[in-house]
Amino acid sequence: MSIVILTGAGISAESGIGTFRDAGGLWEQYPIEQVATPEGFAADPDLVHRFYNARRANAAQAEPNAAHRALAKLERQHTGDVLIVTQNVDDLHERGGSQNVLHMHGALNRATCSACGHTWPAPTEMHTTDPCPKCTAPSTRPDIVWFGEIPQGMNSIESKLRTADLFVSIGTSGTVYPAAGFVQSANALGLRTLELNLETSSGAFDESRTGPATQLVPTWVEEVLSQQRNSTKR
Ligand code: APR
Repeated sequence: MSIVILTGAGISAESGIGTFRDAGGLWEQYPIEQVATPEGFAADPDLVHRFYNARRANAAQAEPNAAHRALAKLERQHTGDVLIVTQNVDDLHERGGSQNVLHMHGALNRATCSACGHTWPAPTEMHTTDPCPKCTAPSTRPDIVWFGEIPQGMNSIESKLRTADLFVSIGTSGTVYPAAGFVQSANALGLRTLELNLETSSGAFDESRTGPATQLVPTWVEEVLSQQRNSTKR
């Protein structure tokens, strides 16, 4: 059984990384247009670098939780493909042991050059005047997909959904497209769809389970692996 898993900020919430739209969330503290748009970066690159430097430091302090680790166990022990498509820019999936991770909104630990497109591991602190390691232009930026920009890996995601059997959405409010539309694509393609979230985001899923990810995800992974063990015993 091939599984595509979409994760959002909710899977990292119990690791201490704030979500965006819950009470007190990031977008209540910072205006999106100032810190998460190309226009905001052009207007005040220092502010945007300070915003992502703070998020990078916060993510580095955080530890993967039981949900991240359970998904890594699923990837190791499940006989079918497991792809994690994450909207998150932290690296907790990777530090929790997952290898097949696609960051569709970019990654805090990656930097890119607006002039030549080169990407490299981001330093802890980035500054407006940093020269690009490849073309030396002072046009470096966090490799984050801002509002109005094209998410990364869309072709891979769409082709993976076409061959998958199950689509699981974990810890996302389902408010930002194109990620929010994956469940409709999955339904149209005949995949089974499951939501694991603190609260039900939409009625679009075949099944919705509500609760904290650190409880729902390990339980679900154990179900999948024990079904797999039972089916190989026959
Ligand atoms: N366990 C499971 N789900 C949780 C938990 C938890 N402990 N805590 C919060 N949630 C759920 C909330 O109920 C909500 O549905 O996680 C979701 C968080 O929603 P958002 O804050 O909107 O985050 P997300 O869905 O990832 O946002 C998508 O929007 O701003 C952009 O690029 C940003 O990638 C982000 C995208």
